[in-house]
Amino acid sequence: MADPDILIRARGLTKVFGEFLAVDGIDFGLSRGEAFGFLGPNGAGKSSTMRMIGCVSPRSGGELTILGLDPDRHGPAIRARLGVVPQEDTLDVELTVRENLLIYGRYFGLRRDVIRERTAKLLDFVQLTERAGDEVEPLSGGMKRRLTIARSLISEPEILLLDEPTTGLDPQARHVVWDRLYRLKQQGVTLVSSCATGLSSWTGARSPLRGHRGS
Ligand SMILES: Nc1ncnc2c1ncn2[C@@H]1O[C@H](COP(=O)(O)OP(=O)(O)OP(=O)(O)O)[C@@H](O)[C@H]1O
Ligand SMILES: [Mg+2]
Repeated sequence: MADPDILIRARGLTKVFGEFLAVDGIDFGLSRGEAFGFLGPNGAGKSSTMRMIGCVSPRSGGELTILGLDPDRHGPAIRARLGVVPQEDTLDVELTVRENLLIYGRYFGLRRDVIRERTAKLLDFVQLTERAGDEVEPLSGGMKRRLTIARSLISEPEILLLDEPTTGLDPQARHVVWDRLYRLKQQGVTLVSSCATGLSSWTGARSPLRGHRGS
């Protein structure tokens, strides 16, 4: 019987693109409430691994179980329980800050009153309340990053996947993000983050990518 507290388990997880081996048979297990980091330089395979966990890229080999489910067969069920912050922001820049959260909440089938209530809380959480009615396009890179993080939380996910969450943030904004992530961890959210430049002490992270140990 699988341990219900092991949320993600990988054995020999592999990703190839054509002839190119991007993720080379990695093993890891991740428990509920843990903070976990994929560390390594550009091209180490961090995003490729996180996209397999996010069920947007099929694995090429090995085993991968997420929330006790097989991503090949249960992608939509897994995705419904994940929050995803991709490396590149995918916000709808023609909509307002608030509308981006409302629309994302609708993808998850949430009721409008629930979305509205969560949106208000999340915008406060990432310090964007004052920009709620503004279009996304002119926001700074750091503000867009914080909005992407807020958006990922609209469905109250059990696991949050963060691909380079603080890229492009100034030191103060970075501190705000790490502080918020720490609070989420305190609330029991399991955090999976990638970082090309080493991680802050909040994670106590270990990295399974071959030859890339955490700093
Ligand atoms: N769709 C793809 N097709 C072909 N090769 C790919 C594809 N996606 C990634 N790769 C290759 O796989 C390797 C790992 O890429 P990946 O994006 O996972 O690295 P990363 O660790 O996230 O790097 P970074 O720190 O730059 O974000 C790279 O050599 C990359 O060129
Ligand atoms: Mg990457």
